[in-house]
Order: sequence, then C-alpha cells, then structure tokens
Amino acid sequence: MESYEPASTRPSRSGLTLETFILEGMLEHPGARGRFTSLLSQLALCSKLITSRVRRAGLADVLGYTGKTNIQGEEVQKLDEEANNTLMRVLSRRGSCAAAASEEEETIRLLSPEPDADYLCVFDPLDGSSNIDVNISIGTIFGILSKKHPGPATEQDFLQPGRELLAAGYVIYGSSTMFVITTGKDVHGFTYDPTVGEFLLSHENIRIPEHGTIYAINESNRERWEPGIRNWVDWIRTGKDGPGRSYTQRWVGTLVADAHRTLLRGGLFTYPDDERNKTGKLRLLYEANPFAMIFEAAGGAATTGRERILDIQPTELHQRVHLALGSKEEIAAYDDFVSGKRED
Ligand code: F6P
Ligand code: MN
Repeated sequence: MESYEPASTRPSRSGLTLETFILEGMLEHPGARGRFTSLLSQLALCSKLITSRVRRAGLADVLGYTGKTNIQGEEVQKLDEEANNTLMRVLSRRGSCAAAASEEEETIRLLSPEPDADYLCVFDPLDGSSNIDVNISIGTIFGILSKKHPGPATEQDFLQPGRELLAAGYVIYGSSTMFVITTGKDVHGFTYDPTVGEFLLSHENIRIPEHGTIYAINESNRERWEPGIRNWVDWIRTGKDGPGRSYTQRWVGTLVADAHRTLLRGGLFTYPDDERNKTGKLRLLYEANPFAMIFEAAGGAATTGRERILDIQPTELHQRVHLALGSKEEIAAYDDFVSGKRED
C-alpha cells in the first residue's frame, strides 16, 4: 500500500537547487555511476550559458555586435547557432553523451568515443527563434535516450519511440527563465535566480488540470486543415457543448511558451498537419517526444488525434508530426473530432 503523507507534514523542497535535486536523484539509485547525473548537470549548465546570452540579445545592435566580430574581437554567431554550439561543446566534455541530434544539424554528431558513453541527446537548441528579434519568449527542448548498441552511435540508434526516453525537459526564456524536467514519474520546474546563478525549485510536482479553457492553434492555416480539425475548432469556438464550456485562444508561436502555458493552465495546444505541412510542422524526436513525455508525466496527454505520440516509431531524424498536447478532457474531445467520431 502506498503511504500518504498529508501535504502539510511533508517537508517542502521549494528552493532546492537544481544541482542538489539532480544529485539526490542519483543518491536514490545506489548503483548509479553518475553518468546520467553528470549529463543532467551539463544540460543545466547549458541552460545557464544560453540564458545569459539570450538576456543580452537585445543589446547586440546597440553594442555594435552585428558584424562578423564584436567589440571583444570575437566572432558573432546567430543566437540559435550559439545555443547549438554551447550544447554540443558542453555535452562533449564528460564522456557520458555518445552523440547528439539537433534541429540545427542535418546528421547526428558524435560527441564521445568512450565505451561508457551510453547516452544520446536530442535537442532543439533555440525553439521559436523567429520570436527573438521581437523580445518574445523562446526556449530550449531536450531529451535523453540510452544508446543500446556498442560501438559508435549511428542515426539508427536515435530512431526510438518517445516512450524510450529516459528524461525530457525544456527551458523557457520568458519573463523569468525556467527549467522543467521529468524522468517519467513527476515533472518539476526550477526558476532561475540570476542573483545567485542557480535554478531553484519553484514548481514541485506539476500536474496539468484535467480540463482547461485555453486552446492554441495557428488559425491562419484553417483553409488547409482536414475537416476534423475545422469541426473541432468550430465546436471549441461556439461552445455547443453547453454552458461553462467557453474557451479562449492564445498563440505565441513558440512551442515552448505555448506548451508551458498549457501545462500550467490546462487546455490544449495543437499544430496539426495541413495541405502545406503534410505531416505536421513540429519535429518528432526533439520537439514532440520530449513534450509528450512531460505532458503524460504531469497527468495530461499527447496525440496526433489518432495515435499516442510516444508510440510512434520514427523513421527519420528530422521527421515531422501532427502534435496535440493538453489536458485529458480536451485531448479526448480532439481525438474524437480528428478521427471523425464526432462532427457536432
Ligand atoms: O519550431 C517551430 C516553431 O517555431 C514552434 O516553436 C512554433 O510552435 C511554430 O513553429 C510556430 O509556427 P507558425 O509560424 O506556423 O505559427
Ligand atoms: Mn523549434
């Protein structure tokens, strides 16, 4: 029988640093060799490095950082390139990550030849980058898989369904920077305190509401949607389901920001396929799968309207997918409309 401690007597872990949290996770597994822990701390370090760069993004023009070199004589890179290089560089250091697949690179990159490097990383280094120049939230998304075969990693090693992920997370560079992570059981959020340079536990055990009233979809694609999506949007807009079922719409245009809001407030986010984006727009390996793992761990769901995201067998590194994330109630209705069970 599970023991239950009332919240009032359970010591709050609020304020715990991400580093301590990661270490405590390792201490719970006495046999652990520390490689997974090390990989998570490296991702936390990358988030600090990227957030510090993102926070100065608006100064680039002011300080004359627009040419090939900046005032310190260093090459200036685009922020998404820089975020990608930061991740690759840091992850290649401690010999725990064999290889990485990034949205920024066509093929996988081998990072550590050590036989003990048995993890693979997938990431979108800077999601929503079209929002950088207008000072709107952007983010980083990542997932960790295990390398199941000896020898140098191959692209094939990355083609695992999302249910095989060992951990997934994202960093949102919003009004504050937050690092959200799951290893499959719980989802925790850490807010960056720039005055001490640490991520501190601020959102312990995030649970998505069973039902929420915000939906997110880019409605400019409406004419290109299949009828099921149009029927669903018509239903959600008119609230034919009865009183109290009135929704409002939001679209930031950064997956990390739209998904983060959906995780905390409930409701639904979707980027369906359409006549132009025939298999959807978002990428399965490093956008859809990490979020699907997080949403399921938080008590929500992630589907294509027809199947569970985490069960899809990938066939290509950069494959795209129809992605819907959200509260259980909203996803159930969405699935019914997409599959044609409901037309209303
Ligand atoms: O990574 C692709 C992305 O920038 C997502 O962050 C976002 O959800 C989506 O594209 C926005 O697409 P659109 O420009 O069609 O609104
Ligand atoms: Mn992206």
